[in-house]
Amino acid sequence: MRKSIVLFFSAVLAVTTSFAQSNINIVPRPVKLVASKGSLDLSKRAAAIDLSGADVSLAMFLDEFLKSKDVEAGRDPKTKGYPVKLTIAKVDSLGAEGYTLSVSKKGISIQANTEAGLFYGIQTLIQLTPLKGTKLPYVEITDYPRFAYRGLHLDVSRHMFPVEFVKKYIDLMAKHKFNRFHWHLTDDQGWRIEIKNYPQLQSTAAYRNGTLIGHAGENPERFDNKRYGGYYTQEEVKEVIEYAAARYVTIIPEIEMPGHALAALSAYPQLGCTGGPYEASMKWGVFDPVFCAGKEETFVFLEGVLDEVIGLFPGKYIHIGGDECPKTSWKACPNCQLRIKAQGLKDEHELQSYFINRIEKYVNSKGKQIIGWDEILEGGLAPNATVMSWRGEEGGIAAAKQKHTVIMTPGNWCYFDHYQDTSKTEPLSIGGLTPVREVYTYEPLPVQLTGDESKYILGAQANLWTEYIATPQHAEYMVYPRACALAEVVWSPKEGKDYINFLQRMETHLQRLKNWNVNCAQHLVKEIEYLKNPQKKR
Ligand code: ACM
Ligand code: ZN
Repeated sequence: MRKSIVLFFSAVLAVTTSFAQSNINIVPRPVKLVASKGSLDLSKRAAAIDLSGADVSLAMFLDEFLKSKDVEAGRDPKTKGYPVKLTIAKVDSLGAEGYTLSVSKKGISIQANTEAGLFYGIQTLIQLTPLKGTKLPYVEITDYPRFAYRGLHLDVSRHMFPVEFVKKYIDLMAKHKFNRFHWHLTDDQGWRIEIKNYPQLQSTAAYRNGTLIGHAGENPERFDNKRYGGYYTQEEVKEVIEYAAARYVTIIPEIEMPGHALAALSAYPQLGCTGGPYEASMKWGVFDPVFCAGKEETFVFLEGVLDEVIGLFPGKYIHIGGDECPKTSWKACPNCQLRIKAQGLKDEHELQSYFINRIEKYVNSKGKQIIGWDEILEGGLAPNATVMSWRGEEGGIAAAKQKHTVIMTPGNWCYFDHYQDTSKTEPLSIGGLTPVREVYTYEPLPVQLTGDESKYILGAQANLWTEYIATPQHAEYMVYPRACALAEVVWSPKEGKDYINFLQRMETHLQRLKNWNVNCAQHLVKEIEYLKNPQKKR
């Protein structure tokens, strides 16, 4: 691996004459940026924020930014000082999230069709300000996203993260213009969302009796024997939803079914094929006990859970999992076999399809759409389902060809639980190797799709599974700066994609991440040093 990195740089350096420094280092890279000579000095001058009818909540982000530069902001347009103008304007080419940003001697002006566009303009403005000093370069920026779905995922079942961290995770997403937070709330190791109608999900399913120490492949297995768990109350969930909404991030809650259900089954064993007993898992993997697809009670339970989830989350999508569901217990279960017979199904794969179709119908009846992992293709796709392609790109390609919308999250590029470097000092991880550079090279539109079929690819997402990630600091280390690279993949135009240029901007952006208190991995520092001094012995 090392060797190939060196070869890669030598090849690129042959066509790159210098590692040019710039005072404009925006991540993700805007569509169009024209800089001109001169700058607007923010120092010691009051700003008159003119919202021109834009939502006042946006002013909070501007205030925060101006305050960080010691600038007093006034809401009265007659305030002495330069104007900061946010305007909702009808500019078709900007779409639902684009904006224009102008910094000139006349002041700062951001225009967009929507509040979201203005919000992204403010994020760019924040990055336009130098780390030191208060001089904003004169620029004209026109910017809009390449993809409508720009996501990051967080697994809070294997390890749970405090509400404050979940908010920080979302805030950092918004700073990078991500707009979908996939909250993986349930799994074998713990159920993490309060469901008022099923109190044992809180008292039982939210806890496990210990956690595996070391890697799942180790023999013998070792456990810490410490009870571990917790859950987010509905009040906390609402608080996170509101926090995300203020940052134009929609949350997609995931309730796993029919597999990855051990925690739920530990609380309600009658929902499993054998009736249990079951225990929330203390180790990682895929387990045979799953929700029984034969019992009506299973659907009553899941519909009850979904009712509360749908009541909480205002977004259009509910993720219902669907991945890694072994068919062992269904094969041996008289109820499941009866269901297969009664429904005229061919096998257990069609039973899984029956399960997902039935849940989809319910979710649709409540005005929402389902997303499922690519296993939901097996045995026949539910009519309105969106597919999240994780076992490579194949599932996404197949779904798009069937005219189903797709979110790309293939492991090779988008699994941030993989190692990001080959160094022995890296923290223990599940495996795999996905360096920043690899994330940067990801192309969400597979060559196998025609132009028309490509329209079904809504965008891409990175996933953070947390079997081996127990703390916020470690989670940040795994996500940043890889998320910066993915932000460019999903926001910036494909044309002009250039890893060296990305690294140039990342030199400043790494400092920004530090200022935002992000425990960012530092592997790029070495790459940047090498680019600046290719002759230097390392
Ligand atoms: C998954 O990684 N099991 C979706
Ligand atoms: Zn069964």
